[in-house]
Amino acid sequence: MSSVAVVPGSFDPITLGHVDVIERAASIFDQVHVVVVHNPDKQALIPIAHRVSLIEKSLEERGLVGANVVVTSWAMGLLVDYCTDVGATAIVKGIRSQVDVAYETPMAIVNRDLAGVETIFLLPDPAHAHVSSSLVRQVSALGGDVAPYVPAVVARFLERTAD
Ligand code: PNS
Repeated sequence: MSSVAVVPGSFDPITLGHVDVIERAASIFDQVHVVVVHNPDKQALIPIAHRVSLIEKSLEERGLVGANVVVTSWAMGLLVDYCTDVGATAIVKGIRSQVDVAYETPMAIVNRDLAGVETIFLLPDPAHAHVSSSLVRQVSALGGDVAPYVPAVVARFLERTAD
């Protein structure tokens, strides 16, 4: 039986830290679903369909999409329902610091309570430890260069939208 994992998130936009975690997940699991989920606690910048497209383009150049990674979105309710639908037994999240541990732990426990889906925390390359989508959005909105933090296709998109 093949192992399936879900890497969920807002991905608004995808960063090099996200890419790092997705690549690590893809080397562990037979199949990885990268799922863009609307987070009502966050003010979104990029429409969900466009976030999916940016993720696909970012992963395609690394040969991941079409190999064992699919990219999609989920707006139908609980994330664990998506996991059950696709037969995923694990949710994968990247952990940059203790702040992430505190944020992710309650969600991991609730997801396990709801459907028995375990969450696996992966440590990204420390080079990305300071990178977040919210910082990228802020730097970009104020005219700064985000190229060191995001895939090239995302940097080009943000540059165009900042004009
Ligand atoms: O990148 P984010 O915004 O930190 O990702 C959080 C996200 C979208 C993965 C989380 O909010 C989520 O899983 N939302 C789906 C709704 C759900 O299942 N909530 C209950 C369990 S936490």
